[in-house]
Amino acid sequence: MGEGKVGLASLKGRHFVDALDFSPAEYDLLFSLAERIVESPEEFAACCSGKLIATLFYEPSTRTRLSFEAAMLRLGGKVITVADASTSSVAKGESLADTIRTVAGYADLIVLRHPKEGAARLAALYSPVPLINGGDGAREHPTQTLTDLFTIKRSKGRLDDLTVAFCGDLRYGRTVHSLIRALALREAIRFILISPVELRLPEVIKEEIRSANPKIELLETEDLEVGLAEADVLYMTRIQKERFFNEEDYIRLRDSYVLTRGKLEGAKGDLLVMHPLPRVTEISPEVDEDPRAVYFQQARYGMFVRMALIATLLGVV
Ligand code: CP
Repeated sequence: MGEGKVGLASLKGRHFVDALDFSPAEYDLLFSLAERIVESPEEFAACCSGKLIATLFYEPSTRTRLSFEAAMLRLGGKVITVADASTSSVAKGESLADTIRTVAGYADLIVLRHPKEGAARLAALYSPVPLINGGDGAREHPTQTLTDLFTIKRSKGRLDDLTVAFCGDLRYGRTVHSLIRALALREAIRFILISPVELRLPEVIKEEIRSANPKIELLETEDLEVGLAEADVLYMTRIQKERFFNEEDYIRLRDSYVLTRGKLEGAKGDLLVMHPLPRVTEISPEVDEDPRAVYFQQARYGMFVRMALIATLLGVV
C-alpha cells in the first residue's frame, strides 16, 4: 500500500512484533488517535465493549502489563491475564505454540512478554488474533517505542531534526533496539551512543540503521558529558542485570552512569530526559524535580498509545 493510502484500517488485524512492522506514516496515525484519546477519553470509553484481551507475561513487568490492562479497561473492554508463567501450564511443559492457539480461542488480542528472543515472532505465526510483542528477551519492545515516540512528539512537536543520546546498556536494552531503528527512519536524526565498551549497541543494529538511512550521524562515546551537551533527548537505560551471564560483570558495570542534577547543568534547557523505567541507580532521584525529566509522564503516555493500538488492531475506530 502506498503512503498516500495509509489509514487506520490498514492496521486492523495485524500483529505488532517488531518496531518496523509499522511504517512511520502508520505510527503517525496512531499518534493522532492517541492525541484524540488524551483530549477526549470519554469518546472512547465504550469502543471495546464486548472485546477481550489476554496478557501473557512470562517475565516481570509493571508498566507494560498494567498499562495494557488499564488501556483495555478504559476502552470498555475486558482482560484476562497470566502475570507469572509458573502459575500457567508452561510450568507443565506446554509449548508456546499450543498456549497461543488455546488463548486465541478465548481472546480477541494477545499481548506476550517472553524471555526468549524471537518468541513473539513465533507466537504470531500461531495466532489468528493480533499478537503484540510486550518484550522478547534483549531483542524488541515495540510498544515502548510507540510510547517513546509519542512522548517526544508531544513534548517537542516533531520526530525529525533531533539529536538523541542513548546512555547505558545499549547491548541488551531492547527498548533501545526498537526505538533507534524506528527513529532512524525519520529525517535529520543524529544519534550519540553512550555506553561502556562491553555494552555498545550491537554491530548488526548499527549496520541496519546505516543501511536504512545512509545520512544518519552516529557518534559512540563512553562519556556521558559529551552526549549531554548536544542532546535534544537523553534516553537513559538500566543495566540489564537479567541478561548478564556472570554477576561479576554486572557488578563492575552497573554504576557506569549516574545522571545527577549537577551533570544536567551542561545540558540544553529544553532537553528531554527519558527512561523506559524501571530505573535502579542510573538517574538520581533529585533529577525527578527537574522539568526536563519526563519519564513518569512517558509511562503515562504509554497507556494512551496502547489504547490507540488496541482499538486500531481490533478495528473498532
Ligand atoms: N518499560 C517497561 O517495559 O517497563 P516494565 O518492565 O515495568 O513493563
